[in-house]
Amino acid sequence: MSIKSDILKELTSGAQEYISGEELAKKLGVSRNSIWKAVNALKKDGFMINATTNKGYNLLANNNTLSKESVKNSLQNYDAPIFVYKSVGSTNDVAKDLAAKGAEHGTIIIADEQTKGKGRMGRRFESPSKTGTYVSIILRPKFSAQEALFITTSAAVATAQAIEEVSNRETKIKWVNDIYIENKKVSGILTEASTDFETGMLEYAVLGIGINVSTPLEGFPDEIKDIAGSVYENECPDNARIQIISSLIRNFFKLYDKLPNKDFVKIYREKSFLTGKIVSFENSGKLCKGKVLDVDEDARLVIENEDKSVSLFSTGEVNIYKDFL
Ligand code: BTN
Repeated sequence: MSIKSDILKELTSGAQEYISGEELAKKLGVSRNSIWKAVNALKKDGFMINATTNKGYNLLANNNTLSKESVKNSLQNYDAPIFVYKSVGSTNDVAKDLAAKGAEHGTIIIADEQTKGKGRMGRRFESPSKTGTYVSIILRPKFSAQEALFITTSAAVATAQAIEEVSNRETKIKWVNDIYIENKKVSGILTEASTDFETGMLEYAVLGIGINVSTPLEGFPDEIKDIAGSVYENECPDNARIQIISSLIRNFFKLYDKLPNKDFVKIYREKSFLTGKIVSFENSGKLCKGKVLDVDEDARLVIENEDKSVSLFSTGEVNIYKDFL
């Protein structure tokens, strides 16, 4: 633990409103000058820390700031490295770069803002500062590329659980990996992988999860404003982003560590947004229409076609058939 993260812990412990530099120095076994330097570094990271003569330091409420220290403190005992950036192109790209250089399993990359956030199918993922969480996790799976599909489905379950735990709002999972609240998409997942062709095993996978925690002041861009929503409609409560990130990471590893066990698919199935709905999808290059009957035990979408035959889908893009909305 660094001095910065120890100081944050003391300032957020709630035992007293103010804590003096002298007391902090004594508690942490460092000099007052080291405390002063670390407090300044925290302020630079965006933490609003008040320094008052004869009283000491206090952390002002509404700390919506993401930092390595705040994430580490809320995760507790997380061993792999955590990188937190103010702004990057894409956390998935940073993660892939680090993975190619040998970064260890579990390494986490978080950004307050992404300037080139990537979505599935080459789309863009809007990633403004302060209102979302953009997280990538480097994984070095011990199972085959085939089974890697379950990384994304387990992440969808973990994301839905994290959002519910922190916000108390009910989530649905739109196959294959979007999280919805009240008919609006609040989160998307993009998993990218590098495979060893000889063994068929994954060298690494980068799991990227983006969540709209609150709505940007200027609203969502026109192209997505009809489908995009956020976990909180108005302002994001204190520490909500950090709480969602830590709950997401904890819930995800609980499921991931049991893979290829797929018991979690039961939850996925219960939360399925598309079950019972009429959808459009592409099959062998043809645009088709059908009814979603279920999600099977392998997280495949079970669709009844117009001719009453049944198809199973493990990848692809499925959308609600507009005429039926
Ligand atoms: C989608 O909805 O199509 C997937 C969106 C995935 C967005 C996340 S945000 C963190 C990570 N970095 C990216 O550039 N994309 C993923």
